[in-house]
Amino acid sequence: MLSNRQHIVKRSIARHLPVDNLSRKPPDLTHDADFPPPPPMPTLARMTPQPNPEAGAAVKAADRDHVFHSWSAQELIDPLAVAGAEGSYFWDYDGRRYLDFSSGLVYTNVGYQHPKIVAAIQEQAAKMTTFAPAFAIEARSEAARLIAERTPGDLDKIFFTNGGADAVEHAIRMARLHTGRPKVLSAYRSYHGGTQQAVNITGDPRRWASDSGSAGVVHFWAPYLYRSRFYAETEEQECARALEHLETTIRFEGPSTVAAIILETIPGTAGIMVPPPGYLAGVREICDRHGIVFVLDEVMAGFGRTGEWFAADLFDVTPDLLTFAKGVNSGYVPLGGVAISGAIAETFGKRPYPGGLTYSGHPLACAAAVATINVMAEEGVVENAARLGADVVGPELRALAERHPSVGEVRGTGMFWALELVRDRETREPLVPYNAAGEANAPMAAFAAAAKKGGLWPFVNMNRTHVVPPCNISEAELKEGLALLDAALSVADEHTR
Ligand SMILES: Cc1ncc(COP(=O)(O)O)c(C=O)c1O
Repeated sequence: MLSNRQHIVKRSIARHLPVDNLSRKPPDLTHDADFPPPPPMPTLARMTPQPNPEAGAAVKAADRDHVFHSWSAQELIDPLAVAGAEGSYFWDYDGRRYLDFSSGLVYTNVGYQHPKIVAAIQEQAAKMTTFAPAFAIEARSEAARLIAERTPGDLDKIFFTNGGADAVEHAIRMARLHTGRPKVLSAYRSYHGGTQQAVNITGDPRRWASDSGSAGVVHFWAPYLYRSRFYAETEEQECARALEHLETTIRFEGPSTVAAIILETIPGTAGIMVPPPGYLAGVREICDRHGIVFVLDEVMAGFGRTGEWFAADLFDVTPDLLTFAKGVNSGYVPLGGVAISGAIAETFGKRPYPGGLTYSGHPLACAAAVATINVMAEEGVVENAARLGADVVGPELRALAERHPSVGEVRGTGMFWALELVRDRETREPLVPYNAAGEANAPMAAFAAAAKKGGLWPFVNMNRTHVVPPCNISEAELKEGLALLDAALSVADEHTR
């Protein structure tokens, strides 16, 4: 383990020193990293979409004929044909532009088509497009080094995967082999990926159809004061009771059967429930006491999303394994991974790790990660997310809650916010029932349609909309989006009592 002091030094390097080791450029220290200049605004000329409805119709027709989409009844969907994207915007073939408040699937942390990342991918393609995972490759080595430099504590070895779900699969495999124990504890109201083990760990309805019933997973309740399972009225009560519930669950499952506890540091798709102070430290302590591996899933919350490089930094907690994907390279080329502690890496020092992927640490994906991390450091993207979250998004969403009866709760940090929409603020009845579809989901569908009509692409899940734009969004763009959200919420208000 690193000492606290080493940990602080490592994190201060991560936060404040722009790193550009591939090109060996000296760091740009011309601006104060605490008050970075706003990221450059894309020029309007480059962003003016050129309408081409015929091309759009062809794209759409081939999609409808041949593309089988995720999580969907294929005949009931109507995917938008997208012609282009830049920065925080994308546009369709009719020339209609949308401000993307969803960052794709919460992964374009530095927006679309960042020129430095596109150039890095092009350069890597020209130099070495691909190479097998058993070799030491410059882009792979450098990506691992830059990531390890930023992860908390002694999470200094990086196993690369193709995305988030397989990162979770491997983290769980490592935990089981390290402890020799079978079970995994994970939270209801969580998402950990769509592959077989990851979806069985997931605590939302997407698991149900694939629940093997024998995946060795036990679900428990994590803190969520607004809809407390513990009859809590304060954060302190929620924290203490959630920890007591977890401890009891472990006691009754048998501590010697539990390999890992996996949590999203801040649950993302499930509702951005920022854990109360002390909760994650409490889970850490429980894991230590019972010899359980603590896995934090930062696939969505990592790489600047919360206004820190990793959400774990907000709580000063170091897990034994940390999964990442998405923001690591703004999703430009598929990449994920597991950051591994010294003790777990040691388990596989002399004994082979029984797992691998053809594309583990793919050079194109790793070159994109190197460029993304350097861009984030040079352009103060993490600081931008923290500042705009605290100064703009938080206050403006709370002001929206004052005006709109449909807003039950506002919660979040950085560029990671949720509005919980309700029919009735007193009873907290959700605007649509849990897991609603079709007619039952009509109020949320009407809200989303109104936002899109206004030019805002929202993230919508169940009775929530999440404000999760790129972490390098400008203040002006953010305010434009919040004004469009304000207008769309009037449609949600029509469904309140
Ligand atoms: C917290 C978390 N873990 C895992 C995943 C799965 O990642 P992927 O879709 O890249 O497999 C996601 C995806 O949204 C996620 O949010």
